[in-house]
Amino acid sequence: MAIDHGPAKLLCLTGFMGSGKSTAGRLLARQLGWPHVDLDTSIEEAVGLEIPQIFARQGEPEFRRIEHDQLLRVIGETLESRRSRVISLGGGTTAQPQNLAALRENGSLLIWLECPIEKLLARCAQITNRPLFRDEASFRKLYRQRLPFYQLSDYRVDSSAEPVSVIEQILALGIFPKVTA
Ligand code: S3P
Repeated sequence: MAIDHGPAKLLCLTGFMGSGKSTAGRLLARQLGWPHVDLDTSIEEAVGLEIPQIFARQGEPEFRRIEHDQLLRVIGETLESRRSRVISLGGGTTAQPQNLAALRENGSLLIWLECPIEKLLARCAQITNRPLFRDEASFRKLYRQRLPFYQLSDYRVDSSAEPVSVIEQILALGIFPKVTA
């Protein structure tokens, strides 16, 4: 039995804060036997600070610059190693035109983890480490601003349920290599 891998795939999960990109990415990668990269973690490791500290000390424009650098690094490494990866993007990554362009130029598959705003609010309200979660009104406003960018994704799955259901939906999209005899 052989698995037809083809060229390395960059399978990217996008979606708003609290949509479950990190958890789903980790589980999906495990299921596929691919490495998983969490872009926020790569940024934290590169800078040596946690995301809220980067925002507080260096500001959002600098965060976006580092985010772009790290995205290019991950794309480069993936293509060079010829090994497909699952990448959990940050909630704002694909809203930056230079990031979307880099992902498109390198043939990434973008999957949007869609989740109703009420659920996202409930999830994020319990976690205090998100610099862009200030209050409910600004959260709702940012969500509305982000929607058109998420809608540019190649696929959309419902991430309001458990992570296992998200993985099932992604595996059912029919974008993975076929096992050939
Ligand atoms: C951001 C989302 C965060 C993180 C940073 C900015 C955003 O990632 O990248 O705080 O712009 O929506 P998560 O979506 O993983 O929380």
